[in-house]
Amino acid sequence: MLSTFSAVAWAAGGASSAGARSLASKTTTRTTGSPQRYFGAAARIDQISSEPGLAELFLRQCTCITPEIHLKWDALEWEEGRFSFEPADDLVRFAVKHGMSVRGHTLLWDQSTPRWAKKRLKRERDWSLIKRHFDIVLGRYADHVSEWDVINEPVGDDGSDGGFRRNTFFEAFGPSYVERALRTARERAPRARLAINDYGFDYDNPVEEKRRTNFLKMIETLRRADVPIDSVGVQAHLDLSKGPLNQRIVENFLNDLAGLGLDIAITELDVKERDLRAPIPVRDARVAAEVQSYLEVALAQPAVRGVITWGLSDRHSWLQDQMPGGRPKKLEKLNRGLPFDAELRPKPLHGAILAALQPDAPAGALALRAR
Ligand code: G3I
Repeated sequence: MLSTFSAVAWAAGGASSAGARSLASKTTTRTTGSPQRYFGAAARIDQISSEPGLAELFLRQCTCITPEIHLKWDALEWEEGRFSFEPADDLVRFAVKHGMSVRGHTLLWDQSTPRWAKKRLKRERDWSLIKRHFDIVLGRYADHVSEWDVINEPVGDDGSDGGFRRNTFFEAFGPSYVERALRTARERAPRARLAINDYGFDYDNPVEEKRRTNFLKMIETLRRADVPIDSVGVQAHLDLSKGPLNQRIVENFLNDLAGLGLDIAITELDVKERDLRAPIPVRDARVAAEVQSYLEVALAQPAVRGVITWGLSDRHSWLQDQMPGGRPKKLEKLNRGLPFDAELRPKPLHGAILAALQPDAPAGALALRAR
């Protein structure tokens, strides 16, 4: 296992966002025979439209975006029947205009289900509410969203309830809600790729071991019943307090998933730091080393089609809101778990992702994204 980050790729990366090589090159010639992967990031239209530098960064770095919040049920319909499509429309339009694909995140997630819908689902146990939601969202975005996280985070932490998380949908419909959701989505969006997306599969501890087992069992059952599912999303929110990664565990898990005949996407990659008091170069090297170690095995698995980070800049990372005491005011106190810092400068993590995605890119060459 690699414990330190090799600075080679980072040195070739440049120190300003404008000079940073694109992570999403389509132009690199492959000599290794490995498949070309996409690179993308989670995005918010309010941030993109108010920060030209950030918009430029997305255009330069990504061939794919995931709306971080705008497509969630509570973002679209906070109050029953009152829809707010504008942010999602604008972000999807931005992506389409610039030739980026969109990952639809997410149709069903307990945490982003509006309160009114949770209440109704628990009381009425009526699938027509789910169907209505899918009809509206898939109907509006089907032409522009190539892949959907139909269900987000259905996996439980222990062996109870058949390995399912006991969420609103499970309580209303039992475990069959997963299968029903996929079938309902397929009816409404026959051309889209359908996925289940989940977290907590990366580390060598009993909870994550159980989660891997539960997830594999869930997917295997769906495959056996011929349920429409095309891919799985592995979030990969890495966490240095749980590490270092055991590469063998990641490798075996992805192998097992691939063996079930599905594509895999790394959908929410970022790193939560453990020691924020260390000097910044040390912190950045630790973060980059963890991702280098992860991607080394993940991208050796041909079923892994691409990598998406959960944001591009530390300034916007959800992890800042998870800090004890809330989002830090000083830039140097921010978690540094994304490829660009708060001022949009590329970090060693950018170099680590670049080296993993484009191993045969000629050193020093600018590998620009084809627009
Ligand atoms: O926009 C409102 C703002 O008007 C209000 O003042 C503020 C007060 O709390 O809330 C703002 O909304 C927040 C929104 O992010 C935008 O910042 C929501 O409260 C907050 O819940 C929401 O958090 C998002 C979370 O999912 C829930 O939707 C995070 O940004 C987003 O990064 C996170 O993403 C999830 C993935 O979907 C699934 N996997 C885990 C990942 C991290 O939790």
